[in-house]
Amino acid sequence: MGVKALNVNDTKDYELYLEHVPGIIATDLTGTIMYLNQQCADYLGVDRELALGSKVYDVFPDTKMMENMGIDRPTIMFYHSFGIGISVHIPIMENGEKIGLLEYDVVQASEVLYELADNYTKFLDEELTNLRKEINQLRRTKYSIGNIIGKSPAILSLKEAIQRAARSDSTVVIFGETGTGKELVAQSIHDLSKRAKQNLIKINAANLPETLVESELFGYESGAFTGARKNGKKGKFELADKGTLFIDEINQMSLSVQPKLLRALQENEIERVGGENSITVDTRVIVTSNQDLRELVKKGKFRQDLFYRLHVIPVIVPPLRDRKEDIPALVEYFAQRYSEALGKTITEIDPKIYARLQQYNWPGNVRELQNVIERAIAFSKDNYLSAADIHLGNRKLVGPDMDSENPIETAKKKVEIEMIVEALKTCDGNKTEAAKLLKIPRPLLYQKIKRLGIVEPIT
Ligand SMILES: Nc1ncnc2c1ncn2[C@@H]1O[C@H](COP(=O)(O)OP(=O)(O)OP(=O)(O)O)[C@@H](O)[C@H]1O
Ligand SMILES: [Mg+2]
Repeated sequence: MGVKALNVNDTKDYELYLEHVPGIIATDLTGTIMYLNQQCADYLGVDRELALGSKVYDVFPDTKMMENMGIDRPTIMFYHSFGIGISVHIPIMENGEKIGLLEYDVVQASEVLYELADNYTKFLDEELTNLRKEINQLRRTKYSIGNIIGKSPAILSLKEAIQRAARSDSTVVIFGETGTGKELVAQSIHDLSKRAKQNLIKINAANLPETLVESELFGYESGAFTGARKNGKKGKFELADKGTLFIDEINQMSLSVQPKLLRALQENEIERVGGENSITVDTRVIVTSNQDLRELVKKGKFRQDLFYRLHVIPVIVPPLRDRKEDIPALVEYFAQRYSEALGKTITEIDPKIYARLQQYNWPGNVRELQNVIERAIAFSKDNYLSAADIHLGNRKLVGPDMDSENPIETAKKKVEIEMIVEALKTCDGNKTEAAKLLKIPRPLLYQKIKRLGIVEPIT
């Protein structure tokens, strides 16, 4: 027999429903108990008949009802022999006047609270996973093989290499100078692969201090180190399970982490920091390098076994100077993109622009071209992109716009840029070593490289 509908005239019926709400208790303004349900009496361990008419603090010494009588604080916490509980307080009104307070419990024991907290964390985790998937989907529609502009033989063979890599499930290493589009290539491979619907998780091996790389990659168990989260944390390898893990700038990965990465790639197994058991993962790995790894192996800065393990599918992204015929298409593409972004309509491009851009050798590759066009669009007038709007010439290499600065600042920056570029050259582009040479922390070097707009030398 199911639950029968409430007979509004029968108080017994109300009792049936009220008995299912935990911890109902109601008092008048003096704290005299006017009502409590059987569930509440049982919870407090009192006789219901005797409790009625008694003072609430005599029956339930830990109550917060009295101190809450005058204020309207709807949710309160209390302590009881069962641990922490949570109650809701509702003022009882009659003819617009407060005559008492009704309490019912949301949580009656700590375990429920812990379960609630666990479920909440799980819920947030799931939400996060879903959001991440959505973001990846959005990113996918934004950047994919179709966004790789160019019809030069070099780009056509790059696109073929991408398709081949996407059909396979092996590790890919993408080589190319800075700004050539390595990240775009990695996204395209994931996007065309059977893992496209799963996560593409990115980690930059250079931005993280050595000690953090390991826990970022493999996660950690609870109590692995001071400041570690109570329930441990998944690493990027686990987050990318069934999907793709993109490790940017693998050439900067420290020698101490390399064997752990090698193991993960060979065994499809990882171990969290401070963990005892191995976790099996099905993660496809794509890495990039803007340095010749073979050279690094020769110099003892990169492990040979890891090099071979990564080198299953090498993809080389050509520098822009080797495919200058793609420049007009790229200019049009970026002109379109930035006019939209900057709210302009460019209807005509001065044809002289192309010749000029094709004479330049583009050390910063497509990213530099993109910056030049963005700037030009910002300067353009009357829907016309003129050759005069183009500002070329190692602007990035000599640093930021210095016109508006005082001469002392400008001189300081020039010296700073020269020193950093020199140090990077001396250290073959290795930032950890360059930072040591300059006697500054590595993160500060990164900041300076960014802020001063330094294009790193190609080694
Ligand atoms: N062929 C291309 N067509 C269109 N856009 C491109 C192309 N190549 C690169 N880009 C764009 O140029 C910018 C730089 O590309 P990306 O970040 O992939 O370079 P990268 O090789 O990873 O550089 P870095 O080594 O400095 O990290 C991005 O905004 C990217 O979208
Ligand atoms: Mg990159």
